[in-house]
Amino acid sequence: MKRLTLCRNLLGNFRSLLVLAVQLTFIIMPVHSQIPEANYDESKVPVFDLPDPLLMQNGSAVNGAAQWWNQRRPEIMSLFEREVYGKTPHRDIHTEFVVIQHASPAFGGKAIRKEVKAYFTRDRKGPFMTILMYLPRSVKPVPVFVGLNFNGNHTVADDPEITLSTSWNAADNPRGQDSLSWPVEHIIDRGFGVATVFYGDIDPDYDDGFVNGIHPLFYAAGQSKPAPDEWGAIGAWAWGLSRVFDYLLTDKDVDASKVAVIGHSRLGKAAVWAGAQDQRFAMVISNNSGCGGVALSKRAFGETVAAINTRFPHWFCDNFNQYNHNENALPLDQHMLVSLIAPRPVYIASAAEDLWADPYGEFLAALYADKVYKFLGTEGLSVTRQPALNRPAAATIGYHIRTGKHAITRYDWDRYIDFAEMHFNQKPLP
Ligand code: GCU
Repeated sequence: MKRLTLCRNLLGNFRSLLVLAVQLTFIIMPVHSQIPEANYDESKVPVFDLPDPLLMQNGSAVNGAAQWWNQRRPEIMSLFEREVYGKTPHRDIHTEFVVIQHASPAFGGKAIRKEVKAYFTRDRKGPFMTILMYLPRSVKPVPVFVGLNFNGNHTVADDPEITLSTSWNAADNPRGQDSLSWPVEHIIDRGFGVATVFYGDIDPDYDDGFVNGIHPLFYAAGQSKPAPDEWGAIGAWAWGLSRVFDYLLTDKDVDASKVAVIGHSRLGKAAVWAGAQDQRFAMVISNNSGCGGVALSKRAFGETVAAINTRFPHWFCDNFNQYNHNENALPLDQHMLVSLIAPRPVYIASAAEDLWADPYGEFLAALYADKVYKFLGTEGLSVTRQPALNRPAAATIGYHIRTGKHAITRYDWDRYIDFAEMHFNQKPLP
C-alpha cells in the first residue's frame, strides 16, 4: 500500500514536472523562436558596409592626429555610449579603499597577497567590491594585469587565505575552481602582478531591472532604472575595473603606468569597454570576447545582436535593441571600439572552436582598426590575413587564434605576458 502511494506520488510529481516543462517551453519558445539559428557558414555572411573610423560622421576625412583626438574619437565614443553600452555616469561617488590584508606572504614567500575592500557608500552597507592582488616580491614597482573573475575571488587560486566571496552566486563555489584560467603563480614567476574582483560584487549578472549592483547609486531623484542610453551591466563592470585602477594608483608596489586590463568572454567585453573609456589602462586584452566585444556585429556570424539582447537583456543599453536582426543599421562596428584604444597596445585572441564568438570577426576588428593605429604613428597590426593556428602576430595590435575551445588558457596568458614584456619592458618577443 505504502509502495503504491509512493508510486502514485512519484507518478503525480512526474506528471506535474511534465506539465511545468511544457508550460516553460511555451514561455521560453516565443522568445527563442525569434532568434534565427546561428549562422556558421562564411558564404552566408551578409554583405555589409563598415563605417570608416577615419571619416567624420559628416563624411570628411580626419585630417590629422589633433582632429582624431578632439573630434572623431569623441564622436565614436558617443556612438558606443548611445547605441551599444550606454553612458557611464561621470558623477563621482564616495569611494573608500580599506586594505584588509596587507602584503601577506603567498606561494611559498615569492609573492605577496593583498586584499582591499572598495566601499561605494558612506555607511559601507554595500555595494562594495573586494580586490584580490598577488604581486611578485622580486619586482617593484610591478606591472599588473587587472581583470574581473566569474565565480568569486576565492576561485582564482587554491589559497585558503583568500577571503571567501559571499556576494551573488559565489559562496558555494569551491576554492581554486578557476585556477586553470588564472595561472597566478606562473604570472608571478614571469614578473607580473594580478589584481582581480568578482564581477558579481559590482553588478550581479541577471536581469533584475537594475535594483541591485551599483546602478542605483547613480540614479537621479525619482529614477528607478537606467534611461535607454544609459549603462547596463557591461558598463557597470567596466566602471568597476576603473575603480580597481583608482586603487592601484595609490599602491606604491604597483607600476600604474603599466597596467593591462584583461577579460575573457563577457568579462572581455567589459575589459575592452573599460580600456576604450579609461586611457589610464596602458594595455587592453580581449580573450574570446565575441559579440558585443570585438567581433564585428554586422557579420551576424555565431552570436547575433538579437541573440545576445534576448538572452542577456541587461548587458547593453536599451537602444541596442534597435539593431536586433538589423545589424546593418548600426552606425558603427566593433573595429571602432578597438580604434578607441589606439595608440595603446591591444591584444585580441580567438579560439578555433569558439565559433559562437566569431573568431574571424574578431580578427577583422583588429584588421580594420589597424588604419587608426598607423594613423597615430604606431606599427599597428603586423599581418593582413588571419594568422594560422597558434601563430601569434604581435605588433601594437596583437592577435592569435589557438586550437581549442572558448576559454582562457595558459597558452593565452603566456602570449599576453610576452606582449606585455615587449611593450612594458622592451623585451623582444621569444
Ligand atoms: C554566452 C554569451 C556570450 C558570452 C559568454 C560568456 O555564451 O552568449 O556573449 O561571451 O556567454 O561570457 O561566457
